[in-house]
Amino acid sequence: MDDSDKQVELRRNLGQFATGVTVITCTDRLGTPCGITANSFAAVSLQPPLVLWSIAKTCNSLEAYLKAEYFAIHVLTAAQQGLSEHFARSDHAGFGQFEFALSDLGVPLLHGVLARFDCRRFRIHDGGDHHIIVGEVLAHLAMPGEPLIFCQGSYGTASLGPVRGR
Ligand SMILES: Cc1cc2nc3c(=O)[nH]c(=O)nc-3n(C[C@H](O)[C@H](O)[C@H](O)COP(=O)(O)O)c2cc1C
Repeated sequence: MDDSDKQVELRRNLGQFATGVTVITCTDRLGTPCGITANSFAAVSLQPPLVLWSIAKTCNSLEAYLKAEYFAIHVLTAAQQGLSEHFARSDHAGFGQFEFALSDLGVPLLHGVLARFDCRRFRIHDGGDHHIIVGEVLAHLAMPGEPLIFCQGSYGTASLGPVRGR
């Protein structure tokens, strides 16, 4: 098995881990709003309040995210697969039909999300072919709703309830 086969296998096996889906927004140095779909989001610490996500070093808008002092992490609902697909494309600066408002700190905020975490850059760590961006949560909100799930390379919804066959 060569290195690229090993990477494909690792990616496939990591894909067995079901996650939610987020869109992370910031504004670049020219004031252009950026958004990227990411499922590497994770909670880190309650005190201080910290979260993390990782960004590929090959990402077109890497510079914008490394330089951004503020960014927002939007947790998507099951009705927002289109938003996820949109921001998984290369053109991170195009918001298309998706409406947003700029926060006081100049961060694009998307509507109708399940939760949002407004962050200030706390640390950036090297993580192989990714950078790990740790954010301090300055404000957060949540709305009732069903989460969008990503697992085994596909989107789905979570049927939360008692687990059969424990
Ligand atoms: C469900 C899903 C989760 C993703 N999670 C991440 C992530 O955590 N970090 C990342 O860098 N890219 C992630 N991506 C890929 C980026 O969204 C995608 O590579 C990027 O928007 C394409 O831009 P690029 O051409 O500049 O890489 C994810 C894509 C999908 C569909």
